[in-house]
Amino acid sequence: MRREWKLIAVGAALVTIGAAAGVLGVHAQGASTMADPSKSSYLSVNEEDFRTVFARMSAAKAQIMKRQLDLLSARYDLGDRPAANVRMSRGKPIQEGVRVKLPAGVAWEALEKMTPEEIREKGLFPKGFMPLPHPNHPEGGMVFPHFLIDEVKKQTGRDLTRFDLDFDIPDRFLPEFPAPIYLTTRPDLGDVSRGQLVTTDNYYELFNGILNPKQLEGLRLLLTPFAQQQFNLTADRRSERPSLGVACFDCHQNGSTNGAAHLVGDIRPQEFRHRIETPTLRGVNIQRVFGSQRALKTVEDFTEFEQRAAYFDGDPVIATKKGVNVLERGSQIHDMAEFQEILDFPPAPKLDVFGKLDAGKATSVELRGQALFFGKAQCATCHVPPYYTDNLMHNLKAERFYRPQMVNGMMASADGPIKTFPLRGIKDTPPYLHDGRLLTVDDTVEFFNLVLGLQLTPQEKTDLVAFLWAL
Ligand code: HEC
Ligand code: HEC
Repeated sequence: MRREWKLIAVGAALVTIGAAAGVLGVHAQGASTMADPSKSSYLSVNEEDFRTVFARMSAAKAQIMKRQLDLLSARYDLGDRPAANVRMSRGKPIQEGVRVKLPAGVAWEALEKMTPEEIREKGLFPKGFMPLPHPNHPEGGMVFPHFLIDEVKKQTGRDLTRFDLDFDIPDRFLPEFPAPIYLTTRPDLGDVSRGQLVTTDNYYELFNGILNPKQLEGLRLLLTPFAQQQFNLTADRRSERPSLGVACFDCHQNGSTNGAAHLVGDIRPQEFRHRIETPTLRGVNIQRVFGSQRALKTVEDFTEFEQRAAYFDGDPVIATKKGVNVLERGSQIHDMAEFQEILDFPPAPKLDVFGKLDAGKATSVELRGQALFFGKAQCATCHVPPYYTDNLMHNLKAERFYRPQMVNGMMASADGPIKTFPLRGIKDTPPYLHDGRLLTVDDTVEFFNLVLGLQLTPQEKTDLVAFLWAL
């Protein structure tokens, strides 16, 4: 027994050296497309022995996480500076201020006077405005913040810990947990979560008598774990123990989001795939386009197709191996969609029925921000009230400002057209943009100021932030 363990340890050490070489980008095999699985449309179905993979990847974890956390601290000011007079709907402090760092020796005022070409030639586009890689982009897959992992484990016994990597963005830049739940059908009740994370353990007690039986069954399915690429029973999983899988609401916690990340399924090869941050499901009832680029037309489609293709990997081959959960369209999908469709945006007490500020309730700063939003800053061209989306996709062409480049195994190039996410309730769901590259609302204003060439003054930027917080 002893000797066997020693042999395993030696093997693991050798494998670790191999993994480290891989991390540093040293490829033993040639550059041909055939030899490099990361260039294939398909995930590999060749299964290595689980203990070998476990030893190699857990040994490489510290180095991978250091690389990612170094990237975050180079890009952003991660300090704890909560705003004084605004909070999320259930009271979590909101981080304020522009957190994207400027390149040495340049000020925002100087940057916004330059043309996109000039900024690109001089390499002056702030790194935090560029696409954000997954904690380990070449590997990818679902990754959950620790507070979700802890609570799910406590309530249901499922362990969503990955042995190869951790979630990267600090808690203070993530949505409130557990998030409050507002129902379009029962606005009189306010938050119906009673401060709990809804799971298979407590949903019935919380919702029986508030939902109809279809919605209740839909909610049960949204809370039920199904096999998925990283969390399943097969040897190529990324959890130490075999896993029953992942539930919709592990990411869309309480119908909102915990910031859990993944890689988008639509793009190949791997290095071109976008990191995607879980969007909130609040307000899907008024939306017409689903997924940052997939542009599925109904909540039903999104609900059905995710599971058929092993969630986000767009790969039915690998899904079959894990155990696909084909949901029945007329009953199960329909019930799951019905519950999602009654998740309301959080209350915005300062808005009137047109979605504009009520002059009697708003501050003068917020009112100035609103005037800018509909005027000089042109935000309303795409973010149309009352929910502040036009239900279309737009290409912001941020790549005008930087040369295509590799960042920790991700190719930062053109993003293409992305869905206009609604801005109602925006203060509750940082970080921002489809990949979560912007940590605060202030960052989004600075981003659009530069990308749209708005030349806003510092006062105008403050006013706009105040308006966005009121939405
Ligand atoms: C990895 C955590 C994760 C899990 C688990 C998950 N989602 Fe999502 N969900 C996401 C992400 C990330 C996106 C954005 C996808 C994109 O940009 O293409 C998304 C998008 C959506 C959308 C479209 C929202 C929008 O604003 O465009 C719907 C609807 C949705 N998910 C429902 C579900 C359902 C139903 C399930 C369970 C079958 C589920 N999700 C499971 C992370 C998750
Ligand atoms: C040309 C259309 C367009 C204009 C104009 C525009 N936006 Fe957006 N906005 C988008 C798109 C598209 C996205 C999603 C981009 C992404 O995720 O990469 C977005 C995303 C956002 C987000 C993040 C939403 C989220 O949930 O992550 C905020 C905040 C935002 N916009 C604020 C503004 C403000 C403030 C202005 C005006 C200064 C503005 N936008 C002008 C199209 C636009």
